[in-house]
Amino acid sequence: MYTPFKHEPFTDFTVEENKKAFEAALEHVKGELNKDHDLLVNGEHIQTEDKIVSINPANKEEVVGRVSKANQEIAEEAMQAAVTSFEDWRKWSPEARAGVFFRAAAKIRRRKHEFSAYLVYEVGKPWKEADADTAEAIDFLEYYARQMIELGEGKHVESREGEQNRYIYQPTGVAVVIPPWNLAFAIMAGTTVAPLVTGNTVLLKPASNSPVIASKFVEVLEDSGLPKGVLNFVPGSGKEVGDYLVDHPKTALISFTGSRDVGTRIIERASKVQPGQTHLKQVIAEMGGKDTVVVDSSADIDTAVDAIVVSAFGFSGQKCSSGSRAVVHEDVYDEVLERVAKVTSELSVGNASESNVYMGPVVDQAAYDKIMGYMEVGKEEGRLVVGGTGDDSKGFFIQPTVFADLDPKSRMQQEEIFGPVVCFTKAKDFDEAIEIANNTEYGLTGAVITEDRQHIERAARDFHVGNLYFNRNCTGAIVGYQPFGGFKMSGTDSKAGGPDYLALHMQAKTISEML
Ligand code: NAD
Ligand code: ALA
Repeated sequence: MYTPFKHEPFTDFTVEENKKAFEAALEHVKGELNKDHDLLVNGEHIQTEDKIVSINPANKEEVVGRVSKANQEIAEEAMQAAVTSFEDWRKWSPEARAGVFFRAAAKIRRRKHEFSAYLVYEVGKPWKEADADTAEAIDFLEYYARQMIELGEGKHVESREGEQNRYIYQPTGVAVVIPPWNLAFAIMAGTTVAPLVTGNTVLLKPASNSPVIASKFVEVLEDSGLPKGVLNFVPGSGKEVGDYLVDHPKTALISFTGSRDVGTRIIERASKVQPGQTHLKQVIAEMGGKDTVVVDSSADIDTAVDAIVVSAFGFSGQKCSSGSRAVVHEDVYDEVLERVAKVTSELSVGNASESNVYMGPVVDQAAYDKIMGYMEVGKEEGRLVVGGTGDDSKGFFIQPTVFADLDPKSRMQQEEIFGPVVCFTKAKDFDEAIEIANNTEYGLTGAVITEDRQHIERAARDFHVGNLYFNRNCTGAIVGYQPFGGFKMSGTDSKAGGPDYLALHMQAKTISEML
């Protein structure tokens, strides 16, 4: 039998042995940088002239890898391979499919620091964040494989005298997977494994900032026994390859995670029935956030300060779940602001491939320019308390930044900045704090720091977010423990890592036989 699911433990880098092991992995991966990585179509490795060049955002001179780029012709070949291989893969038993992913999880676990080191180089993750990203990828493999086995028999429905009813799940068809670069391993792996383990075939188009880690993952799945054509790796431009695959009449399912603009565009395009299309496309779209940490007058101040800092600056604020807003009760506003500013000014920022810093760079020049643009907006709309500066001479480094006294409807408090910036707004009471927390178009995560039981109940009912946390930070959902997905314009609330997620990748079939 299978052991029960247990989430992958995080590495304690204060233990010297762990620190040394991670440094060795960084050194090992340094020797593997600047290599070419292939496309994978119908089990064939393909190289193209046109490459995505992935660089280390902490050191623009350092090439992490060059990944071959697909065009529409290659995307079409990959689609045909996925259509053909579906006919066999869909017939594999849930146990047999799950076996591939249990094996892949074991392989990744044995090389855990190596994968995390790639994340450090490719997207500038600090060690702790890279380690958590790899752990979450392993969790998705382990959790979805077990869940597919449980769903294999279908679910119970009633039968009447003389009648036998069954309710089973069947795969949908060809899935197009379009992940973001920020949870570069976990989300890419989770959104790829869910359609595969449920019996669909996949075209994976990774984000252009993180194609190397995706390529390393594809290698592991190949080595774990995935048959040819079941997973096809087609890095390429979102506009060219992304649109082509989204529009394709054979696409049955699209699993997208990324920005609101791209997500809503995909939903719109997928709704148009193309010539030759014989089904409606299913779309899972998990999108942006503008997430709030609410601090009540009864809050434990240490907890509040920690929650705000961790939520705002973990991975430089580049998480959909990042707490970029702090809405604080007027009785404790000055104290919380002052303490957050002090802790923020002491955070270390630097190149995580050289040392174990708290914060690395932001992901690329476009992100740097966008975030630095918001620094100017923040100075106009509010009061700069700490940070506000950046340096893109070597890598894309931005100091963790705190703005105070923002109007709840200001741009800084409404738009997703996706960088190391937290904005404070004062609330006169708890009701107003919840009202402000709900006043954006997003509804992904939120945290409430309070010792008041009635306020906990009130927020649980009225704070309209997909993932709500009390007396902790609003980031870092764990697979199987805190299923993840947002309300409102944050997405389709698919709840990745939860009990309902796999069913979104299948079609339920009712079979009724007269006896
Ligand atoms: P993005 O929307 O720019 O890109 C996401 C993916 O879409 C990438 O693979 C990209 O290549 C692809 N893409 C771009 N244009 C496309 C097109 N026209 N057709 C098809 N695909 C296209 O987002 P990003 O910068 O990679 O990620 C950051 C965003 O993702 C933030 O808004 C963040 O909040 C969100 N995010 C959400 C979640 C969640 O679970 N809700 C998790 C992580 C990130
Ligand atoms: N699932 C990730 C988190 O909770 C995005 O932070």
